[in-house]
Amino acid sequence: MSAQMEIIFAARDYIQTRTEIRPQIAIILGSGLGALADDVQVDAVFPYGEIPGFPVSTVAGHAGQLVLGTLAGKKVVVMQGRFHCYEGYPMSLIILPVRVMHALGAISLIVTNAAGGLNPDFNPGEVMLITDHINTMGSNALIGPNDDLIGPRFPDMTHTYAPDLRALALNVAKRAGIPLRQGVYVATSGPTYETPAERRHLRVIGGDAVGMSTVPEVTAANHAGMRILGMSAITNKATGDQDQQPDSHEEVLAMAKVAGKKLVRLVRSVIEAMPILDYVTPDQLTDIIE
Ligand code: HPA
Repeated sequence: MSAQMEIIFAARDYIQTRTEIRPQIAIILGSGLGALADDVQVDAVFPYGEIPGFPVSTVAGHAGQLVLGTLAGKKVVVMQGRFHCYEGYPMSLIILPVRVMHALGAISLIVTNAAGGLNPDFNPGEVMLITDHINTMGSNALIGPNDDLIGPRFPDMTHTYAPDLRALALNVAKRAGIPLRQGVYVATSGPTYETPAERRHLRVIGGDAVGMSTVPEVTAANHAGMRILGMSAITNKATGDQDQQPDSHEEVLAMAKVAGKKLVRLVRSVIEAMPILDYVTPDQLTDIIE
């Protein structure tokens, strides 16, 4: 077994011996978006520091725990808080929780984040469905030895954001009367917000929203073959135009709460509507076949 796999299985085994929940859907909650976890019928909570191999999250506004339970009738595993490049963690640690959630049985990933609106049409408090992404972090989450049992050396990224899940989200949003923007998410390493010139650059290359997360986790989830749905809470205008206002983390968190209310409703309804096959353990599968 590869060193990567040993680390993943150690964390998985720790969690599995402490909860009966075998999650079908993994959810990552971004800055100020932790409220969705309040809707979960909780079976077990694991502060990150308790899970073998996990780092401890350091940012204000990130609770830093893994929650397992039931949401809208589906078994879920929720990351309340995530790890970022700018905290100084190596990519291998940033993506470890995704690989563990996959090893726990999750085949779908719903990922959320707070992002600046590069697109001049976007306003703080709105929600954007991620159609695609651009990685300007300066590193790729999969650099290093590849374990072919996790995924291929050169993964295809064409349909990273599952078209059927995107269609489902648009449908659900329409029915709920929640306006849903669509666009391309650009990831920077942070921790600085972008200069106005950088923002105009990111617009030219095709970005609609900019943030400091998501791309590493999505890259790892796609590598493992997970189906991915991504949504951004637009927290500030980030056009880089003449009228560009200074940014503050406090304002970002405050607007994340506004957009977060819509995001929580959307994610809940999407999960309710998601067709899910029950997760079957290898042992149960043997029983079924025999
Ligand atoms: N830039 C980068 N990350 C962000 C922003 C932004 O404008 N807003 C929220 N996260």
